[in-house]
Amino acid sequence: MSEWLDPNVATSWLEQDQLVGFLVLPRRIAATLVAGDRPRTKLVADIGSGPGDFLEVLLDLFPSAHGVWTDVSPVMADAARQRLARYGDRVSYRLTDMTDLANLPGDLDVVMTSRASHHLDPAQLARFYTEAAEHLAPGGWLLNLDHIGPDPVWDKRLRAVRKQLIPPSDKAGAHQHKDALPSIADHLEGLAKAGFGDVEMPWRGLYTCLFAARHDG
Ligand SMILES: C[S@@+](CC[C@H](N)C(=O)[O-])C[C@H]1O[C@@H](n2cnc3c(N)ncnc32)[C@H](O)[C@@H]1O
Repeated sequence: MSEWLDPNVATSWLEQDQLVGFLVLPRRIAATLVAGDRPRTKLVADIGSGPGDFLEVLLDLFPSAHGVWTDVSPVMADAARQRLARYGDRVSYRLTDMTDLANLPGDLDVVMTSRASHHLDPAQLARFYTEAAEHLAPGGWLLNLDHIGPDPVWDKRLRAVRKQLIPPSDKAGAHQHKDALPSIADHLEGLAKAGFGDVEMPWRGLYTCLFAARHDG
């Protein structure tokens, strides 16, 4: 995780993110799903928000909502402040580690995160989901769009497909992943441990899955 505090890691990631187009659909599915169930959404928090692309989709769909941007990286905070400048005081910015969400506001309509939780091990992931649940209003939504670790056979197959469809970047400095990313089962177990009973995976593309869970309260 701490590698993201290195300005070079954050800067080179911002320069080489190749999934921007690929993630347009799942971000919209996530936001539209919430809109169908919770049309008066007012307060959303994006954890590990980076430049804020996912948060932006919810701010556009809910014009009276306030967004809480969080991340560990000051470089990402600068990028997000530029990207989200047009929302003015509809966005507040907090440098926050996702392993400790104590400083998040309560009664959130949505806790969302994207491409960040794969740095957690299964126990940390379950804790993250539990802390997120503690900050959600009854009926609020947890949205997690992240890369998962498939079993070795499928890992090989998916890697081959991805290499052809989304060629790897030639930029140096891309961040490192540990050997085993949490699996789909780890996510579902973590969500169950956190008390989410209403869970679905409404989108998957290769390694990347959207988990959506409604907090029963
Ligand atoms: C791959 S980027 C994804 C950014 C954005 N969520 C997206 O999908 O476009 C991962 C982000 O997670 C942040 N991050 C990594 N570890 C974190 C932690 N422990 N707490 C909060 N943010 C973290 C990084 O600084 C970075 O902005």
